[in-house]
Amino acid sequence: MAPLLQMTGITKRFPGVVACRDVSFAVEAGEIHGLLGENGAGKSTLVKILYGLVDPDEGRIEIDGREVRIRSPRHALALGVGMVHQHFMLVPTMTVAENVALGLRSDRPPLSRLRRVAAKVAELSQRYGFHIDPDQQVGELSVGLQQRVEILKLLCRGAELLVLDEPTAVLTPQEWQQLRGTMRSLADAGKAIVFISHKLDEQLSISDRCTVLRDGSVMGTVATAETDKASLARMMVGRDVVLRTERPPRAPGRPVLEVHGLHLNAAEDRCLLADISFTIAQGEIVGIAGVDGNGQRELVEVLMGIRTATTGTIRHEGETVTRLTPRRYNRIGAVIPEDRHRMAIALGLSVRENLVLKDFCRQPFSHRGITRPRVFRDFCASLLQEFDIRTPSLDVAMRQLSGGNQQKVVLAREMHRDPGLLIAAQPTRGLDVGAIEFVYRRLLEHRERGGATLLVSTELDEILSLADRIAVLVSGRFVALLENRDIDIQELGLLMGGASEMVAS
Ligand SMILES: Nc1ncnc2c1ncn2[C@@H]1O[C@H](COP(=O)(O)OP(=O)(O)OP(=O)(O)O)[C@@H](O)[C@H]1O
Ligand SMILES: [Mg+2]
Repeated sequence: MAPLLQMTGITKRFPGVVACRDVSFAVEAGEIHGLLGENGAGKSTLVKILYGLVDPDEGRIEIDGREVRIRSPRHALALGVGMVHQHFMLVPTMTVAENVALGLRSDRPPLSRLRRVAAKVAELSQRYGFHIDPDQQVGELSVGLQQRVEILKLLCRGAELLVLDEPTAVLTPQEWQQLRGTMRSLADAGKAIVFISHKLDEQLSISDRCTVLRDGSVMGTVATAETDKASLARMMVGRDVVLRTERPPRAPGRPVLEVHGLHLNAAEDRCLLADISFTIAQGEIVGIAGVDGNGQRELVEVLMGIRTATTGTIRHEGETVTRLTPRRYNRIGAVIPEDRHRMAIALGLSVRENLVLKDFCRQPFSHRGITRPRVFRDFCASLLQEFDIRTPSLDVAMRQLSGGNQQKVVLAREMHRDPGLLIAAQPTRGLDVGAIEFVYRRLLEHRERGGATLLVSTELDEILSLADRIAVLVSGRFVALLENRDIDIQELGLLMGGASEMVAS
């Protein structure tokens, strides 16, 4: 019998790159098929072709043995192919049922249609264990639940093949466990799932088979039960990857950043941060562990001068800097913010402009008010090489880079100048294993040279391998501030536990 999906000889060229090169790829009904590959390997392009967002230059697509030319997402859905976008397409002020009903074609009057949709949502939610109430407002749902609403939307439109492009980047470990359950029950019911994730543990724990892409070509398809992390990493990168890091002992020096009694209140006196105190010394990495949404973002925004603390003090090298602005922060430190699209890059500007965004008016890039293009060019070229940024040229718009390569541009811009103080929020989100290895090495080199680092991460492994001290942030407060010696991942998880309960409820 023909597979549910068969893509054969798919090639897609963009100016200066071949994103997919003679790719053949098949997915069976009832199968979870992982898609793996380095940043820029062509994963997103391949699934965009399948969803009618990108037109291939060559190749055939067959669904249930019938050749199709997929012209648009609407057409893809009509053929039973659905895709969950990383940035959700939901209207927060509407209910779940209203969101699902949006855009559905029907001849019925709106109200009776809504009732039917609500019943359908309840039925599907029951069948696949989604725990979603059709009458709940979408804006009140956690990220994990919103993602389920996106999946429900596709199921209500009759999707038989679901494409999930890095769905877990925004999920807590608990939410990932729930998504995993959902994916399994969908597959057991005969649906097929294409699952893109850089996290090898996730691929190994859920996918039936994995296809690995490198530079747009298929390196192979393997049964997940017959492979392991190291061999998947090798297939992706073409060499062995060090998946563990050594953090040599180091005596911290003078304090660089001292935060004392920081409070941040929002409107209606809602408390976002309460009584946050810590210091970071030279040569020290302080990790902030916690479930997303417990004040990490607010803390980083206060430290980088986007928000002003309600009370409390911040000192940098002994000088009080509580009333920082982003421009002033830029003089004392570097920052890799979590939400890179909103705060770190300009998608419409070129890669070059994004790389020099913070440096262009300084020496040696500009001299007596006149910018020096040649200096820019050499500087950018060396960053591309050092940070392994895959782009056809420096002049392409940032939005044409793959997700991971956009992140590398931010890392390069912020880390190259060897800042005394570095705030790194989710620095490895969206990166492939080789790039993660590189970032870890750079962070440890920064520490070695006496730099101070605040590492905010929801990845406990990351915190445990890099941080000297770990603060656990729950509901805007530190519930613990510990030396990273005698603590393990279970204990950290327990400390964060209060928060995860809250998020889940
Ligand atoms: N619209 C576009 N215009 C020009 N080039 C593009 C466009 N979309 C993608 N590319 C290029 O195609 C290649 C593959 O990109 P793609 O987004 O498919 O990678 P990916 O495997 O999803 O990577 P990541 O893991 O970083 O998300 C990259 O070199 C990228 O720069
Ligand atoms: Mg991608």
